[in-house]
Amino acid sequence: MDKSSIENSMKQDISAVNDAAGLSVFKAKYNGKKGIITELFSGMKDITDKEEKKQAGLAINELKNMCEALAAEKEKQLLDSKKAEGLKGVDVTLPAYGVEKGALHPLTLVTEEINSIFLRMGFSIEEGPEIESEANNFTALNFPADHPALDMHDTFYMENGYLLRTHTSPVQVRAMKKHKPPLKIIAPGRVYRRDAVDASHSSVFHQVEGFMVDENIHFTDLKGVLDLFLKETFGNSLKTRFRPSFFPFTEPSAEVDVQCVNCMGKGCPACKQSGWLEIMGAGMIHPNVLSNVGIDPEKYTGFAFGMGVERIAMLKYQIDDMRLLFENDVRFLKQFR
Ligand code: PHE
Repeated sequence: MDKSSIENSMKQDISAVNDAAGLSVFKAKYNGKKGIITELFSGMKDITDKEEKKQAGLAINELKNMCEALAAEKEKQLLDSKKAEGLKGVDVTLPAYGVEKGALHPLTLVTEEINSIFLRMGFSIEEGPEIESEANNFTALNFPADHPALDMHDTFYMENGYLLRTHTSPVQVRAMKKHKPPLKIIAPGRVYRRDAVDASHSSVFHQVEGFMVDENIHFTDLKGVLDLFLKETFGNSLKTRFRPSFFPFTEPSAEVDVQCVNCMGKGCPACKQSGWLEIMGAGMIHPNVLSNVGIDPEKYTGFAFGMGVERIAMLKYQIDDMRLLFENDVRFLKQFR
């Protein structure tokens, strides 16, 4: 067989190939171990004339290159037509299926908003564990053993003196032991109480604690910080007020109210006709608490406050049942996208 007839037969054969199996047969026929081109190479040993041998070598190499080029081209064609086959009947100009966008949980939204207001006032964020020692949750915070204040903080007790924390105030203890004043910290987190679940109670809920300790911190500093916070959260036109209260870890203590966001202070069912909504507890850190964590109460003073995130979320978004925040029904959660 001469060179051009091999070339012609390769062209003919490759044009008949229409699948991967046919392509392998083609490759084997010409370039395989016993292929035509391979045989030609091995036949070269019988050529004695040097020049003739050289010419034969060049010619056979050209055949081999051509065979490989034809095979590669066919391979690409097969692949392209396979892709086209897969898209047959598909309108590639149709819009894609939308990916549904998720949303942050309203409690996350509100916590982040509270955090950001205090971060702008120069506070930093500190977190503590939900499984807390009785010492940090109660004793260091100046709760006397068997004090009635403990009744409101009944919780889930574990063996060996640990419990599920009933408030974020133990983070005060941890932070004050860890850092030296001046301190300006907020502590968001989950807390637990042995409360029966209803429209305004849950045994698991969230708080944001805040406190500041330095020389010359006064009650006016507490009022200034909280007034600014409440105006940022509920609007500038609403008044805030402080009512005397009791917490073992603050003295004096106060409940902080804001004018009802629903009726602007006129009186409505949301505020039980009082015109005011109770938002948080606060006060000046009790000297005993400072001593308990090794801070000199003669030199330093501080304030602290703690608020419930659920309550603020419910007021902000006009949610009338706390259970909605925990049922995680997507129809409810979708509204916060
Ligand atoms: N820890 C208190 C509670 O959960 C709130 C509070 C925090 C009050 C800080 C005063 C100061 O009820």
